[in-house]
Amino acid sequence: MTGNNQINSSLSAPNKSMQANGNINQMLEQLHADFDPVYSMLMNYQCAVMEVETKFNVLNNRLSLQDEHNPIESIKTRVKSLDSIVRKLDKLGLPITIESAEENLQDIAGVRVVCSFVDDIYRIAECFLAQEDVTLVKRKDYIQNPKPSGYRSLHLIIKTPVYTENGKKDMFVEIQMRTIAMDFWASLEHKLRYKKNINPQTAEELAKELEACAEESAKLDEKMLRIRERIARD
Ligand code: GTP
Ligand code: MG
Repeated sequence: MTGNNQINSSLSAPNKSMQANGNINQMLEQLHADFDPVYSMLMNYQCAVMEVETKFNVLNNRLSLQDEHNPIESIKTRVKSLDSIVRKLDKLGLPITIESAEENLQDIAGVRVVCSFVDDIYRIAECFLAQEDVTLVKRKDYIQNPKPSGYRSLHLIIKTPVYTENGKKDMFVEIQMRTIAMDFWASLEHKLRYKKNINPQTAEELAKELEACAEESAKLDEKMLRIRERIARD
């Protein structure tokens, strides 16, 4: 654990000028050279993700006792890399320190919950948010209010505690909840969004087509839900 005290509170305390010069690579090199405090921060986020994933797995098992299906189809998790954290702080013009990352970035820890049906999303979200150690920070319902791109998902920013060797620490976790169809759509749209050197006219055409696909896909989700409800009634 070398150099903890200098770096503990700062991802780059001696490097303000580097930030000004935009020399991110040099800054990253230095952070990698004294990695313990950074590792500890990333580990805290990893623990938060594990806690949240377990909560959803438990809910899935419990709710599947009441229903005749598993409400959760799959769960994916990720913790942002150090490189992405530093780049995002730099892009937002924020101090490049561990405290700044922990205070300002709410999506370092990410959990994506993919459900079979739209009503499962709201039921699971409600049960999850009712838990004592889950604090809702922000709720964005892009299912009720889709983005202009056609993007649909329920986003929750929550805080949840992790218990470290130094005591309790509340961590932000970003949760994205969507149906299988919304997930399929989002991964295809993501490919277009991050495609480099695409002809602008083609990009515009494809974006329009994707928006139409999102509408159709939402109708299909709705129809499947009605069918499931009728099966359950009969
Ligand atoms: P970020 O700075 O990207 O985190 O945006 P934000 O803080 O304004 O949050 P927002 O709710 O808009 O988006 C958070 C995340 O949702 C993104 O990082 C994507 O993973 C996903 N997302 C949001 N909009 C879209 C979209 O139009 N298409 C796709 N494929 N994903 C999206
Ligand atoms: Mg994000």
